[in-house]
Amino acid sequence: MPAPIATAPTVPHVSMLGLGVYRPRRVVPNSEIVDKIDSTDEWIQTRSGIVSRRWADDDETIVSMATAAARDAIEAAGLSPEDIDAVVLATSSQMVLGPSAAAIVATELGLYDAAAYDVAAGCSGFCYALGTASSIVRAGQAKNALVIGVEKLTDLVDEHDRTTAFIFADGAGAAVVGPSETEGLGPMTWGSDGEQTRAIKQDKDFQQYFEEVRQAAGTGEAPERPYVRMDGRAVFRWALTFLEKACRDTLDKAGLEAKDLDAFVPHQANNRIIDALVGALGLPEDIAVARDIIESGNTSAASVPMAMEQVLRTGGAKPGDTAMILGFGAGLAYAGQIVTLPPIKN
Ligand code: UT7
Repeated sequence: MPAPIATAPTVPHVSMLGLGVYRPRRVVPNSEIVDKIDSTDEWIQTRSGIVSRRWADDDETIVSMATAAARDAIEAAGLSPEDIDAVVLATSSQMVLGPSAAAIVATELGLYDAAAYDVAAGCSGFCYALGTASSIVRAGQAKNALVIGVEKLTDLVDEHDRTTAFIFADGAGAAVVGPSETEGLGPMTWGSDGEQTRAIKQDKDFQQYFEEVRQAAGTGEAPERPYVRMDGRAVFRWALTFLEKACRDTLDKAGLEAKDLDAFVPHQANNRIIDALVGALGLPEDIAVARDIIESGNTSAASVPMAMEQVLRTGGAKPGDTAMILGFGAGLAYAGQIVTLPPIKN
Protein backbone atom coordinates (compact mmCIF):
# COMPACT_ATOMS: atom_id res chain seq x y z
CA MET A 1 0.00 0.00 0.00
CA PRO A 2 1.68 3.30 -1.09
CA ALA A 3 1.77 6.13 1.45
CA PRO A 4 -1.39 8.27 1.01
CA ILE A 5 -0.66 11.55 -0.79
CA ALA A 6 -2.64 14.57 0.38
CA THR A 7 -4.87 16.39 -2.13
CA ALA A 8 -4.67 20.18 -2.40
CA PRO A 9 -7.81 21.82 -0.96
CA THR A 10 -9.96 22.74 -3.97
CA VAL A 11 -11.92 25.97 -4.44
CA PRO A 12 -15.51 25.70 -5.70
CA HIS A 13 -15.75 29.02 -7.58
CA VAL A 14 -13.23 31.36 -9.18
CA SER A 15 -13.52 34.72 -10.87
CA MET A 16 -11.53 37.60 -12.31
CA LEU A 17 -11.13 39.96 -9.36
CA GLY A 18 -9.55 42.93 -11.18
CA LEU A 19 -8.43 44.03 -14.64
CA GLY A 20 -5.66 46.37 -15.81
CA VAL A 21 -4.23 47.42 -19.17
CA TYR A 22 -1.26 49.27 -20.57
CA ARG A 23 -1.69 51.15 -23.84
CA PRO A 24 1.60 52.42 -25.35
CA ARG A 25 1.97 56.21 -25.53
CA ARG A 26 2.38 56.56 -29.29
CA VAL A 27 -0.84 56.67 -31.33
CA VAL A 28 -0.20 55.70 -34.96
CA PRO A 29 -2.93 56.70 -37.44
CA ASN A 30 -3.39 54.89 -40.76
CA SER A 31 -1.90 57.90 -42.55
CA GLU A 32 1.52 57.04 -41.05
CA ILE A 33 1.44 53.54 -42.55
CA VAL A 34 -0.28 53.71 -45.93
CA ASP A 35 2.64 54.91 -48.11
CA LYS A 36 4.85 51.96 -47.16
CA ILE A 37 2.17 49.39 -48.12
CA ASP A 38 0.52 51.15 -51.09
CA SER A 39 -2.78 51.42 -49.21
CA THR A 40 -5.28 54.04 -48.11
CA ASP A 41 -6.92 55.06 -44.86
CA GLU A 42 -10.28 54.21 -46.44
CA TRP A 43 -9.17 50.67 -47.48
CA ILE A 44 -7.83 49.90 -44.00
CA GLN A 45 -10.94 51.22 -42.26
CA THR A 46 -13.32 49.43 -44.64
CA ARG A 47 -11.53 46.08 -44.60
CA SER A 48 -10.50 45.92 -40.95
CA GLY A 49 -12.18 48.73 -38.98
CA ILE A 50 -8.81 50.04 -37.77
CA VAL A 51 -8.46 53.84 -37.50
CA SER A 52 -5.30 53.93 -35.40
CA ARG A 53 -3.19 51.68 -33.22
CA ARG A 54 -0.51 52.08 -30.54
CA TRP A 55 3.12 51.24 -31.14
CA ALA A 56 5.50 50.90 -28.21
CA ASP A 57 8.63 53.04 -27.94
CA ASP A 58 11.97 51.47 -27.00
CA ASP A 59 11.38 51.93 -23.27
CA GLU A 60 7.95 50.25 -23.48
CA THR A 61 9.00 46.60 -23.33
CA ILE A 62 7.14 43.31 -22.89
CA VAL A 63 8.17 43.39 -19.22
CA SER A 64 7.40 47.07 -18.55
CA MET A 65 4.00 46.98 -20.28
CA ALA A 66 3.05 43.71 -18.54
CA THR A 67 4.15 45.03 -15.15
CA ALA A 68 2.13 48.26 -15.55
CA ALA A 69 -1.02 46.33 -16.56
CA ALA A 70 -0.47 43.89 -13.68
CA ARG A 71 -0.16 46.67 -11.09
CA ASP A 72 -3.50 48.13 -12.21
CA ALA A 73 -5.17 44.70 -12.16
CA ILE A 74 -3.95 44.05 -8.61
CA GLU A 75 -5.14 47.50 -7.49
CA ALA A 76 -8.53 47.00 -9.19
CA ALA A 77 -8.86 43.70 -7.29
CA GLY A 78 -8.22 45.50 -4.00
CA LEU A 79 -5.19 43.27 -3.39
CA SER A 80 -1.46 43.78 -2.87
CA PRO A 81 1.33 42.12 -4.86
CA GLU A 82 2.06 39.81 -1.93
CA ASP A 83 -1.42 38.27 -2.38
CA ILE A 84 -0.34 36.89 -5.78
CA ASP A 85 1.28 33.46 -5.79
CA ALA A 86 1.29 32.59 -9.52
CA VAL A 87 1.98 34.59 -12.69
CA VAL A 88 0.94 33.19 -16.08
CA LEU A 89 2.04 35.40 -18.98
CA ALA A 90 0.93 34.94 -22.60
CA THR A 91 2.99 36.41 -25.42
CA SER A 92 4.31 35.51 -28.84
CA SER A 93 6.64 38.46 -29.25
CA GLN A 94 9.16 38.11 -26.44
CA MET A 95 12.55 38.12 -28.18
CA VAL A 96 14.35 36.42 -25.28
CA LEU A 97 13.68 32.71 -24.77
CA GLY A 98 14.72 32.62 -21.15
CA PRO A 99 14.09 33.33 -18.38
CA SER A 100 10.33 33.53 -18.83
CA ALA A 101 8.91 37.05 -19.01
CA ALA A 102 6.53 35.98 -16.23
CA ALA A 103 9.47 35.38 -13.87
CA ILE A 104 10.87 38.86 -14.55
CA VAL A 105 7.46 40.53 -14.17
CA ALA A 106 6.95 38.68 -10.87
CA THR A 107 10.27 40.06 -9.62
CA GLU A 108 9.42 43.59 -10.85
CA LEU A 109 6.22 43.34 -8.79
CA GLY A 110 8.23 42.33 -5.73
CA LEU A 111 7.10 38.69 -5.73
CA TYR A 112 10.04 36.52 -4.85
CA ASP A 113 8.46 33.08 -4.55
CA ALA A 114 5.52 33.01 -6.95
CA ALA A 115 5.11 30.31 -9.59
CA ALA A 116 5.77 32.01 -12.94
CA TYR A 117 5.67 30.78 -16.53
CA ASP A 118 4.89 31.89 -20.08
CA VAL A 119 2.26 30.59 -22.48
CA ALA A 120 2.59 30.84 -26.27
CA ALA A 121 -0.74 30.42 -28.05
CA GLY A 122 -0.74 33.36 -30.48
CA CYS A 123 -3.80 35.59 -30.31
CA SER A 124 -5.57 33.01 -28.10
CA GLY A 125 -2.78 33.43 -25.56
CA PHE A 126 -4.66 35.38 -22.89
CA CYS A 127 -7.66 33.04 -23.06
CA TYR A 128 -5.41 29.95 -22.81
CA ALA A 129 -3.60 31.53 -19.86
CA LEU A 130 -6.85 32.54 -18.17
CA GLY A 131 -8.28 29.03 -18.58
CA THR A 132 -5.20 27.36 -17.13
CA ALA A 133 -4.83 29.92 -14.33
CA SER A 134 -8.47 29.44 -13.31
CA SER A 135 -7.79 25.69 -13.17
CA ILE A 136 -4.76 26.04 -10.89
CA VAL A 137 -6.69 28.33 -8.53
CA ARG A 138 -9.68 25.97 -8.57
CA ALA A 139 -7.37 23.01 -7.89
CA GLY A 140 -5.87 24.74 -4.86
CA GLN A 141 -2.44 25.15 -6.48
CA ALA A 142 -2.49 28.96 -6.18
CA LYS A 143 -4.59 31.36 -4.12
CA ASN A 144 -4.57 34.29 -6.53
CA ALA A 145 -3.05 34.07 -10.00
CA LEU A 146 -2.08 36.96 -12.21
CA VAL A 147 -2.86 36.37 -15.89
CA ILE A 148 -1.18 38.65 -18.43
CA GLY A 149 -1.48 39.01 -22.21
CA VAL A 150 1.23 41.23 -23.69
CA GLU A 151 2.70 41.85 -27.13
CA LYS A 152 5.28 44.03 -28.81
CA LEU A 153 4.41 42.84 -32.31
CA THR A 154 6.18 45.78 -33.92
CA ASP A 155 9.39 43.82 -33.20
CA LEU A 156 8.15 41.07 -35.53
CA VAL A 157 6.26 42.93 -38.26
CA ASP A 158 7.66 43.88 -41.67
CA GLU A 159 6.56 47.50 -42.14
CA HIS A 160 6.25 46.88 -45.90
CA ASP A 161 3.98 43.82 -45.56
CA ARG A 162 0.50 44.78 -46.83
CA THR A 163 -1.23 42.09 -44.76
CA THR A 164 0.35 42.59 -41.35
CA ALA A 165 1.80 46.12 -41.15
CA PHE A 166 -1.54 47.88 -40.59
CA ILE A 167 -3.09 45.20 -38.36
CA PHE A 168 -0.63 44.27 -35.65
CA ALA A 169 0.11 46.52 -32.68
CA ASP A 170 1.40 46.63 -29.12
CA GLY A 171 -0.08 46.62 -25.60
CA ALA A 172 -0.80 44.64 -22.46
CA GLY A 173 -3.75 43.50 -20.36
CA ALA A 174 -3.83 41.65 -17.04
CA ALA A 175 -6.39 40.07 -14.74
CA VAL A 176 -6.18 38.68 -11.22
CA VAL A 177 -7.95 35.33 -10.82
CA GLY A 178 -8.98 34.24 -7.34
CA PRO A 179 -11.66 32.50 -5.29
CA SER A 180 -15.19 33.95 -5.39
CA GLU A 181 -18.60 33.19 -3.90
CA THR A 182 -20.24 32.47 -7.24
CA GLU A 183 -18.80 31.11 -10.48
CA GLY A 184 -17.16 33.78 -12.62
CA LEU A 185 -15.21 31.66 -15.12
CA GLY A 186 -17.21 29.06 -17.02
CA PRO A 187 -15.86 25.90 -18.70
CA MET A 188 -13.49 26.52 -21.59
CA THR A 189 -14.04 25.57 -25.19
CA TRP A 190 -10.62 25.34 -26.77
CA GLY A 191 -8.81 23.69 -29.60
CA SER A 192 -6.11 24.01 -32.20
CA ASP A 193 -6.46 23.23 -35.92
CA GLY A 194 -3.04 21.91 -36.94
CA GLU A 195 -4.15 21.83 -40.60
CA GLN A 196 -3.80 25.62 -40.50
CA THR A 197 -0.33 26.02 -38.97
CA ARG A 198 0.88 27.93 -42.03
CA ALA A 199 -1.87 30.56 -41.95
CA ILE A 200 -0.02 32.69 -39.36
CA LYS A 201 3.66 31.99 -38.78
CA GLN A 202 7.14 33.42 -38.44
CA ASP A 203 8.61 33.00 -41.92
CA LYS A 204 11.99 31.61 -40.80
CA ASP A 205 13.67 30.91 -37.49
CA PHE A 206 16.56 32.93 -36.10
CA GLN A 207 19.06 30.03 -36.50
CA GLN A 208 18.34 30.04 -40.24
CA TYR A 209 18.69 33.81 -40.34
CA PHE A 210 22.08 33.75 -38.62
CA GLU A 211 23.26 31.04 -41.03
CA GLU A 212 22.18 33.31 -43.93
CA VAL A 213 24.07 36.20 -42.32
CA ARG A 214 27.17 33.99 -41.99
CA GLN A 215 26.98 32.90 -45.63
CA ALA A 216 26.42 36.48 -46.82
CA ALA A 217 29.44 37.80 -44.91
CA GLY A 218 31.71 39.76 -47.23
CA THR A 219 29.24 39.65 -50.18
CA GLY A 220 27.62 43.00 -49.39
CA GLU A 221 24.20 41.24 -49.28
CA ALA A 222 21.97 41.62 -46.23
CA PRO A 223 19.57 38.70 -45.66
CA GLU A 224 16.05 39.60 -44.58
CA ARG A 225 15.41 39.04 -40.88
CA PRO A 226 12.52 36.82 -39.67
CA TYR A 227 9.03 38.34 -39.68
CA VAL A 228 5.55 37.15 -38.78
CA ARG A 229 3.45 36.49 -41.91
CA MET A 230 -0.26 35.87 -42.32
CA ASP A 231 -2.48 34.47 -45.02
CA GLY A 232 -5.28 36.91 -44.19
CA ARG A 233 -7.91 35.31 -46.45
CA ALA A 234 -7.25 31.81 -45.05
CA VAL A 235 -7.58 33.04 -41.45
CA PHE A 236 -10.70 35.00 -42.32
CA ARG A 237 -12.37 31.94 -43.94
CA TRP A 238 -11.35 29.68 -41.05
CA ALA A 239 -12.67 32.18 -38.49
CA LEU A 240 -16.07 32.30 -40.13
CA THR A 241 -16.41 28.51 -40.22
CA PHE A 242 -14.87 27.47 -36.87
CA LEU A 243 -15.74 30.19 -34.42
CA GLU A 244 -19.54 30.19 -34.48
CA LYS A 245 -19.50 26.59 -33.20
CA ALA A 246 -16.86 27.46 -30.61
CA CYS A 247 -19.11 30.25 -29.29
CA ARG A 248 -22.20 28.02 -29.25
CA ASP A 249 -20.27 25.30 -27.38
CA THR A 250 -19.02 27.90 -24.89
CA LEU A 251 -22.58 29.02 -24.14
CA ASP A 252 -23.84 25.40 -23.89
CA LYS A 253 -21.09 24.37 -21.47
CA ALA A 254 -21.97 27.31 -19.21
CA GLY A 255 -25.68 26.45 -19.43
CA LEU A 256 -26.47 29.83 -20.97
CA GLU A 257 -28.05 31.25 -24.12
CA ALA A 258 -27.06 34.29 -26.18
CA LYS A 259 -29.85 36.31 -24.54
CA ASP A 260 -28.16 35.81 -21.14
CA LEU A 261 -25.07 37.73 -22.24
CA ASP A 262 -24.45 41.39 -21.42
CA ALA A 263 -21.29 41.63 -23.52
CA PHE A 264 -19.36 39.88 -26.28
CA VAL A 265 -15.59 40.33 -26.19
CA PRO A 266 -13.95 38.50 -29.10
CA HIS A 267 -10.31 38.80 -30.13
CA GLN A 268 -9.90 42.09 -31.96
CA ALA A 269 -8.65 40.80 -35.32
CA ASN A 270 -11.01 42.45 -37.77
CA ASN A 271 -14.27 44.37 -37.31
CA ARG A 272 -15.80 42.33 -40.15
CA ILE A 273 -15.12 39.04 -38.31
CA ILE A 274 -16.73 40.53 -35.19
CA ASP A 275 -19.79 41.64 -37.24
CA ALA A 276 -20.06 38.20 -38.86
CA LEU A 277 -19.97 36.43 -35.47
CA VAL A 278 -22.54 38.79 -33.96
CA GLY A 279 -24.83 38.05 -36.93
CA ALA A 280 -24.24 34.27 -37.00
CA LEU A 281 -24.89 33.95 -33.27
CA GLY A 282 -27.97 36.17 -33.48
CA LEU A 283 -26.77 38.27 -30.55
CA PRO A 284 -29.46 40.67 -29.33
CA GLU A 285 -28.89 44.32 -30.24
CA ASP A 286 -28.56 45.49 -26.65
CA ILE A 287 -25.45 43.34 -26.04
CA ALA A 288 -22.26 45.40 -25.73
CA VAL A 289 -19.72 44.32 -28.35
CA ALA A 290 -16.04 45.16 -27.83
CA ARG A 291 -14.63 47.27 -30.68
CA ASP A 292 -11.17 48.06 -29.36
CA ILE A 293 -9.79 47.12 -32.81
CA ILE A 294 -10.75 50.63 -34.02
CA GLU A 295 -8.23 52.40 -31.78
CA SER A 296 -5.86 49.59 -30.79
CA GLY A 297 -5.49 47.39 -33.87
CA ASN A 298 -4.78 43.69 -33.32
CA THR A 299 -2.67 43.24 -30.20
CA SER A 300 -2.76 39.43 -30.33
CA ALA A 301 -2.45 37.96 -26.80
CA ALA A 302 -3.23 41.38 -25.27
CA SER A 303 -6.37 41.98 -27.30
CA VAL A 304 -9.04 40.26 -25.17
CA PRO A 305 -8.14 41.91 -21.82
CA MET A 306 -7.69 45.27 -23.57
CA ALA A 307 -11.09 44.81 -25.25
CA MET A 308 -12.70 43.91 -21.90
CA GLU A 309 -11.29 47.14 -20.50
CA GLN A 310 -12.61 49.13 -23.48
CA VAL A 311 -16.14 47.79 -22.96
CA LEU A 312 -15.98 48.57 -19.22
CA ARG A 313 -14.31 51.99 -19.56
CA THR A 314 -16.77 53.21 -22.19
CA GLY A 315 -19.78 52.06 -20.15
CA GLY A 316 -20.98 49.39 -22.60
CA ALA A 317 -20.90 46.91 -19.72
CA LYS A 318 -20.15 47.03 -16.00
CA PRO A 319 -18.28 44.87 -13.51
CA GLY A 320 -20.43 41.87 -12.59
CA ASP A 321 -21.95 41.61 -16.09
CA THR A 322 -21.81 38.32 -17.99
CA ALA A 323 -19.62 38.25 -21.08
CA MET A 324 -18.41 35.72 -23.62
CA ILE A 325 -14.71 36.07 -24.42
CA LEU A 326 -13.10 34.38 -27.43
CA GLY A 327 -9.47 34.25 -28.48
CA PHE A 328 -8.30 32.94 -31.87
CA GLY A 329 -5.20 33.09 -34.00
CA ALA A 330 -1.89 31.35 -34.76
CA GLY A 331 -2.16 27.59 -34.48
CA LEU A 332 -4.79 28.10 -35.66
CA ALA A 333 -5.97 27.93 -32.06
CA TYR A 334 -9.04 29.24 -30.28
CA ALA A 335 -10.44 29.45 -26.74
CA GLY A 336 -13.79 30.70 -25.49
CA GLN A 337 -15.16 31.16 -21.97
CA ILE A 338 -18.16 32.76 -20.28
CA VAL A 339 -16.90 35.20 -17.65
CA THR A 340 -18.15 37.66 -15.08
CA LEU A 341 -16.57 40.99 -15.97
CA PRO A 342 -14.14 42.25 -13.29
CA PRO A 343 -13.68 45.76 -11.88
CA ILE A 344 -11.12 48.08 -13.48
CA LYS A 345 -8.99 50.69 -11.71
CA ASN A 346 -10.87 53.97 -11.20
O1 UT7 B 1 -5.04 37.86 -35.05
C1 UT7 B 1 -4.96 36.63 -35.69
C2 UT7 B 1 -6.15 36.41 -36.51
N1 UT7 B 1 -6.07 37.25 -37.69
C3 UT7 B 1 -7.16 37.50 -38.37
O2 UT7 B 1 -8.23 37.09 -38.01
C4 UT7 B 1 -7.01 38.28 -39.68
C5 UT7 B 1 -8.02 37.79 -40.67
N2 UT7 B 1 -7.90 38.40 -41.98
C6 UT7 B 1 -8.18 39.69 -42.22
O3 UT7 B 1 -8.47 40.44 -41.31
C7 UT7 B 1 -8.22 40.15 -43.65
O4 UT7 B 1 -7.94 39.06 -44.50
C8 UT7 B 1 -7.26 41.33 -44.00
C9 UT7 B 1 -7.74 42.58 -43.31
C10 UT7 B 1 -5.84 40.97 -43.58
C11 UT7 B 1 -7.28 41.59 -45.50
O5 UT7 B 1 -8.60 41.88 -45.92
P1 UT7 B 1 -9.24 41.07 -47.12
O6 UT7 B 1 -10.57 41.64 -47.34
O7 UT7 B 1 -9.17 39.61 -46.80
O8 UT7 B 1 -8.28 41.44 -48.32
P2 UT7 B 1 -7.69 40.46 -49.44
O9 UT7 B 1 -6.40 39.90 -48.98
O10 UT7 B 1 -8.77 39.51 -49.89
O11 UT7 B 1 -7.39 41.49 -50.61
C12 UT7 B 1 -8.48 42.17 -51.28
C13 UT7 B 1 -7.88 43.18 -52.24
C14 UT7 B 1 -6.83 42.60 -53.18
O12 UT7 B 1 -6.93 43.29 -54.41
P3 UT7 B 1 -7.73 42.64 -55.67
O13 UT7 B 1 -7.05 41.32 -55.92
O14 UT7 B 1 -9.14 42.45 -55.18
O15 UT7 B 1 -7.57 43.65 -56.73
C15 UT7 B 1 -5.52 42.95 -52.50
O16 UT7 B 1 -4.46 43.08 -53.43
O17 UT7 B 1 -7.22 44.23 -51.52
C16 UT7 B 1 -5.84 44.30 -51.90
N3 UT7 B 1 -5.05 44.57 -50.71
C17 UT7 B 1 -4.82 45.81 -50.24
N4 UT7 B 1 -5.17 47.02 -50.71
C18 UT7 B 1 -4.77 48.09 -49.97
C19 UT7 B 1 -4.51 43.67 -49.85
N5 UT7 B 1 -3.90 44.31 -48.83
C20 UT7 B 1 -4.08 45.63 -49.04
C21 UT7 B 1 -3.71 46.79 -48.35
N6 UT7 B 1 -4.10 47.99 -48.84
N7 UT7 B 1 -3.03 46.73 -47.18
